[in-house]
Amino acid sequence: MSRFYITTPIYYVNDAPHVGHAYCTVNADAMARWHRQVGDETLFLTGTDEHGQKVAEAAERNGVSPQEWTDQTSARFRASWDDLNIAYDDFIRTTEPRHYETVQKFLQAIYDNGYIYKDTYRGLYCVSCEDYYTSEALNEGNCPVHGRPVTEMEEENWFFKLSAFEDRLLEWYGQHPKATTPDTKRNEAVSFIKGGLRDISITRTSIAWGVPVPWDAKHVFYVWYDALVNYLTAIGYGRDDALVEKWWPNVHHLIGKEIIRFHCVWWPAMCMAAGMEPPAHVQVHGWLLVGGQKLSKTMAGEGAVRLTDIAPQSLTAEFGVDPIRYYLLRDTPLGTDGDFSIEGITARYNTDLANNLGNLVARVATVVGSKCGGLSPALPVDSPLAAEAKTAVDTARSAWENFAPHLALEATWRLIGATNAHLELNAPWKMEPGTDVDRVMAEALEALRIITALIVPAMPGTAQTIWERLGLAGDVASLAFDEVTSWGQFPAGLTVTKGDPLFPRIRVEA
Ligand code: MSP
Repeated sequence: MSRFYITTPIYYVNDAPHVGHAYCTVNADAMARWHRQVGDETLFLTGTDEHGQKVAEAAERNGVSPQEWTDQTSARFRASWDDLNIAYDDFIRTTEPRHYETVQKFLQAIYDNGYIYKDTYRGLYCVSCEDYYTSEALNEGNCPVHGRPVTEMEEENWFFKLSAFEDRLLEWYGQHPKATTPDTKRNEAVSFIKGGLRDISITRTSIAWGVPVPWDAKHVFYVWYDALVNYLTAIGYGRDDALVEKWWPNVHHLIGKEIIRFHCVWWPAMCMAAGMEPPAHVQVHGWLLVGGQKLSKTMAGEGAVRLTDIAPQSLTAEFGVDPIRYYLLRDTPLGTDGDFSIEGITARYNTDLANNLGNLVARVATVVGSKCGGLSPALPVDSPLAAEAKTAVDTARSAWENFAPHLALEATWRLIGATNAHLELNAPWKMEPGTDVDRVMAEALEALRIITALIVPAMPGTAQTIWERLGLAGDVASLAFDEVTSWGQFPAGLTVTKGDPLFPRIRVEA
């Protein structure tokens, strides 16, 4: 049995969850569900990043203590993930005692290994990024990510000797070319390293909202240093070595493209400095954009809407949970930017869900009802759909293994298309009840059974609903994937139920 440990970035609690966060979390959830379905021992970690100046300032603006603020906002992330049917195994908050313990032990190990020293730091700081910039990196004097002014800061800090890891990091990337995917993002990390690494300041005295430095009580760790360590806190670093050994070699960090430097340069170097292997794999995704921008751009016909203002719950309330999950997984491949729009969701909903999947489910149940007495007929030995199903299953498997949910869904929808085409070609609704109708409908039911198993990671609720309408027993997600997706199993005599339309069409105003 393989193991699969997947993480999302831990989200800052300065603000509410938005659809960009949902994109990453839904992808991680689908991946975790896939690995559970194929029987891998799986650990899915998400959580909230609760320290740092940005969060402290948000608390102040809202007139509450940082702890109160983080309690409230972290709960909003959990509520959003519950709403989106996210089945995480662990939700970490960086204000938890277990995290303090791990951060202090991990950084103490780096200190003991001689990679931390004291110096004075002067630099240009962006509070939104919680990061320093050189003046050359600025965009017309502003932060290149947020477009906001930066502040000049000077502090006595503890520094991490990142510069000592240039060669070791390059060597490691040479030996592990797939450690960061896609390749373009790995190249970005490698060229950053080749550009020369400067030591970085890892502590602050200017704020108190952070994890105290164990060897110097006046300092707290800089938020990124504490945050990255969350991936080890959750697997018991400093508390349970066996658990760390079990999970760490199987880790996959899913992250957005603007935090490559932290995850693909700093983090592997920190791990090396602490005497650990760097993370085995980082999968980078792009941004969802509205009208070509991540921030502040109007959405056609909707007034001024920023992507960061779109609450995932407003979308699930309008379209349903599984349609939103489907849209996020299908429309924007991991690694590229994608355009987020209500029109895009509506188009996917009406075409892929209402016309293709929903229609297939309704059609099969209707014809089995009218021509086969509502019971599944016996399955013939051969069917032209068997090969199509095998292709879909094989393609989906390799797509999920390669962090490409959109390709897994594309393959599944090709099978849906082939099954609908098979029905149209044979037109069983025009036939008299008898062996021909029975054959065609048994084939369609069997294809639909496999389709249902294939959509589990993306649309778990819909999958179970269809499964039950087909008269099949048990929880489809917990059935062994290889067995459940092999052709030729639909039992004869099951009661097939029609039910309400799964995806009633959305009327689009002309
Ligand atoms: N707290 C840090 C991560 C620490 S991990 C050790 C952080 N938090 S964040 O809340 O600002 O962003 C978290 C993730 O959300 C990032 O991976 C980022 O790429 C993702 N997204 C934020 N806006 C996004 C879009 N518009 N589209 C897709 N993902 C986006 O960074």
